[in-house]
Amino acid sequence: MEDLDAIVQEALSAFAGIDDPDKLEQAKARYLGKSGALTGLLKGLAKLPAGERPAFGARVNDAKERLEIALREQRERIQGAKLEARLEEEALDVTLPGRGLGIGGVHPVTRTMERIETLFRSMGFAVADGPEIETDYYNFTALNQPENHPARSMHDTFYLADGKHLLRTHTSPIQIRYLEQHRPPIKIVAPGRVYRHDYDATHSPMFHQIEGLWVDERITFADLKGVLIAFLRLFFERDDVKVRFRPSFFPFTEPSAEIDMSFGEGWLEMGGAGMVHPNVLKNVAIDSERYQGFAFGLGPDRLTMLRYGVNDLRLFFENDLRFLKQFN
Ligand code: DAH
Repeated sequence: MEDLDAIVQEALSAFAGIDDPDKLEQAKARYLGKSGALTGLLKGLAKLPAGERPAFGARVNDAKERLEIALREQRERIQGAKLEARLEEEALDVTLPGRGLGIGGVHPVTRTMERIETLFRSMGFAVADGPEIETDYYNFTALNQPENHPARSMHDTFYLADGKHLLRTHTSPIQIRYLEQHRPPIKIVAPGRVYRHDYDATHSPMFHQIEGLWVDERITFADLKGVLIAFLRLFFERDDVKVRFRPSFFPFTEPSAEIDMSFGEGWLEMGGAGMVHPNVLKNVAIDSERYQGFAFGLGPDRLTMLRYGVNDLRLFFENDLRFLKQFN
C-alpha cells in the first residue's frame, strides 16, 4: 500500500518537472507502461488474499486515473508554454511608425487632357471614345483617304501581324465611329493616344490628340474659329492669345487649315482643322446638303509643353519620377 502512494507521489513530481513532450512520454511509460511501476503493482494483485483484491484494484485504478490527469495537464502546460514563446517571438510592435505609402500623382498630360475635356464640356461638347487598334477603313478610307492616297505617307504607323489592324495614327477615326452611331446635331470631343513611326524632341511614337466635331444645320467656319479661340484663351488663362488659321490640306476637311497660336513672339502650330468634307458625311449616310460641320485635331502634349515650359516631349514618357513629381 505504501508502495502505491509512494509511486504516485514520485510520478507526480516527475511529470511536473518535465518541459519536453518526448521526455514526458518516456516518464509515462516508466509508470503506466507495460512494465511500468504501477502495472507491476497490478501484477502482484494475484498474490493478495481474494477479499483484498477488489479494494486494491480500485485504488490502483484511481491512482492510474490521477496520473493520466496529471499527464494531460502537463502536456497542456508544455503546449501552452510553447505557444506563448512563439507568440512572443512573432509579436508585432504596433506602436512602430509605419513605412508610409507613396502618394501617386496625375501625369501632366493626363492633367491637360482632363482640363481640355472640362473646358469643352463647358461649351456644350460631349466626350467620345474609340479604340487604339483600328482598321484601315476607320483610320483612312472612311476619312476620304483611299488606299494609295499620298496623304497616307505622313501617317506611317505600326501594323498588327494579322495585316488587318493598325495602331491609329490620329483620333479622327472616332469621328466616323461616332457619326455611324448618331445623327446630327453632333457636338463631341474625343481624346486619346495615337501612334506614328516618329521619334525626336517633338515627336514620340505614342502621343496624344483630341479630336473635335460639331455637325449641325448651320455650322460655319466662323463657329470653328470662335470655339478654338475661346478654348485656347480659356486653356492658357490669357486673353491676349492670338490664333491664326493657315490654309492647309486634310483629306477629310474642305477647306482645311493649320491652327497656329501666339503669345506675342512667334507662332506655334497647335493642330489642324476644317469643314467636314461632304464625302465623309456621305460615308456615314448623313445628308451633306442639309448638314455641315467643322472638325479639328489638337495636340495635348504640345499644349502641356507650352503650359509648363517643357521643351522635350520625350521627357513626358520616360517615367522619370524626378521629372514627373514636379507637376504634382
Ligand atoms: N487628324 C489630323 C492629323 O492627325 C489632325 C486633324 C486635322 C484633325 C484636321 C481634324 C481636322 O479633325 O479637321 O494630322
